[in-house]
Amino acid sequence: MSRTVIHGGLVVTASDEIHADVLIEGGRIAALAAPGTDAATSWSADRRIDATGMYVLPGGVDAHTHMEMPFGGTYAADTFETGTRAAAWGGTTTIVDFAIQTMGRSLREGLDTWHAKADGRCAVDYGFHMILSDVNESSLKEMDRLVAEGVTSFKLFMAYPGVFYSDDGRILRAMQRASGNGGLVMMHAENGIAIDVLVEQALAEGRTDPRYHGDVRKVALEAEATHRAVQLARVAGAPLYVVHVSADEAVDEIAAARHKGLPVFGETCPQYLFLSTDNLAEPGFEGAKYVCSTPLRPREHQEVLWRGLRTNELQVVSTDHCPFCFSGQKEMGRGDFSKIPNGMPGVEHRMDLLHQAVVDGHLSRRRWVEIACASPARMFGLYPKKGTIAPGADADVVIYDPGAEQTISAETHHMAVDYSAYEGRRVTGQVRTVLSRGVPVIEDRAYVGHAGHGTYLPRGTCQYL
Ligand code: URP
Ligand code: ZN
Ligand code: ZN
Repeated sequence: MSRTVIHGGLVVTASDEIHADVLIEGGRIAALAAPGTDAATSWSADRRIDATGMYVLPGGVDAHTHMEMPFGGTYAADTFETGTRAAAWGGTTTIVDFAIQTMGRSLREGLDTWHAKADGRCAVDYGFHMILSDVNESSLKEMDRLVAEGVTSFKLFMAYPGVFYSDDGRILRAMQRASGNGGLVMMHAENGIAIDVLVEQALAEGRTDPRYHGDVRKVALEAEATHRAVQLARVAGAPLYVVHVSADEAVDEIAAARHKGLPVFGETCPQYLFLSTDNLAEPGFEGAKYVCSTPLRPREHQEVLWRGLRTNELQVVSTDHCPFCFSGQKEMGRGDFSKIPNGMPGVEHRMDLLHQAVVDGHLSRRRWVEIACASPARMFGLYPKKGTIAPGADADVVIYDPGAEQTISAETHHMAVDYSAYEGRRVTGQVRTVLSRGVPVIEDRAYVGHAGHGTYLPRGTCQYL
C-alpha cells in the first residue's frame, strides 16, 4: 500500500488549525501527528512532501457546476475532462454537477446521459444532482430511487418558463416527495414569469444591451421567489437549499426562515462577492461576459453576502461554473440580451478568490475551509469522506502557498473558455500541489493527473438535518 507523508505544514480544517504532519496510506488519511514526535518521525513513506510555510487543506468541494450543459442553443464550453482538470488546478477535488431531465423524458435517461459524458473523463471525483424539469407521477417516483442510489438532491426552477420552469404546484409536489425520501430540493429562486414580461418590454423599447439582463431580473423578483420557495418548503415539511443567492433581500428571506428554525440553507458564488452590475455595464458588448442568473447586483449587496457567510445565514460558496466563450457563444446575444447564454466560468478560481477574502478580512481561514470544503460536503452527503483532513477521510489534500501572488487571466487559466471574468485581478495565495485520494494531480504547479482518475461518488442525504 503506497504511503505519503506531508510534513511541516499548517493543517487547516473547518474546525482546527494545527501544525501537524499527515500520513496518507492507500488513498486515505491514516494519521496526523505533531511534527518531531516519535509517531511522526517513525513513519516510513514512498513519497514525502515538504509543506513548510504552506497550508495543508482538504480538497475543495464545488457543489454547483454545469459541464457541457445545453443552454440557449449551445453548450457550456468545459467538458468533464477540461472542467475537472481546471478544478484540480484550483484546488477543487470534488464537483457535484447537474444531470438534466429533458421535458417528457425520465430522470433515469437524463442521469444516464450525464454518466456517459463524465465516465472515464474526470481528473477528480464527481457526483450528480438532478434537475427536475418535468414533475409528474412517474418522475416523483423516480426521485425515491435516485435518492436510494446516491443522487440525493434535486434542482427546481422558478425561472425559465418553457425550459426548466416548474409552477408552484409542481414544486410543492416535488418538495412533498423530498420530505418523504430524504432528498434536498435546490431552488433557482427568481420569478421567471414576471421576468419574461420585463424582458419583452425591455426589448420592445430597444433596451437590448447586456446591462438590461441585470435590470429586468429584479432584486424584488429574487426575494419574492425565495420567500415563496421557503413557504412551499414549510408547507411540505421539506428542507430547502437556495442556489446562487445574489440579492441582499434574498439573504434576508433565508435568514428570517432560519431564525424561525426552518431547515433552509443558502449558497452564493464568487461572482456575486467580487463582481457587480458595473461589469454588466462594461462598454461595447463586454458585459455579456458577466451574464448569469441570478444576475450580478449593485456593489452594496456584496457586504450583505459576506456578512451572511460570516454569520452562517449562507453556508456554501459554489461556482455555478457554466462557461460560454465570448466568441461565438456570448455573441449569440448581440442586439438581444435575452439570447446571451446564461453562465460564467469560475471552477478554477473559487479557492483562490475566497483565500483573497481571508487576506481582505472578510472571512477567517477556518470559515474559508468550511464554506468551500466541509459545508458543501456535509450539505450533499459526502462528509467526512470529503471536506476534511481526518483519519479515514479520502486523501484529497491541497498544499496551498498563502504568500504566492498571481494574476488571474484567460492567458494562464485552464478552463476551456476564451475569457476570464476576473481578468487582471491580483490575488494572494495559490495552489502548489493537489492530491486526489492520495494520488498527485497537480505537483509543484504541474498537471500530473489524467482523465479517468476521478470516480463517481454516490452520495448520502444532507447531513445538516
Ligand atoms: O446563469 C446561470 N446560472 N447558468 C447556469 C444555470 C443555472 O441556473 O444555474
Ligand atoms: Zn440556477
Ligand atoms: Zn447553476
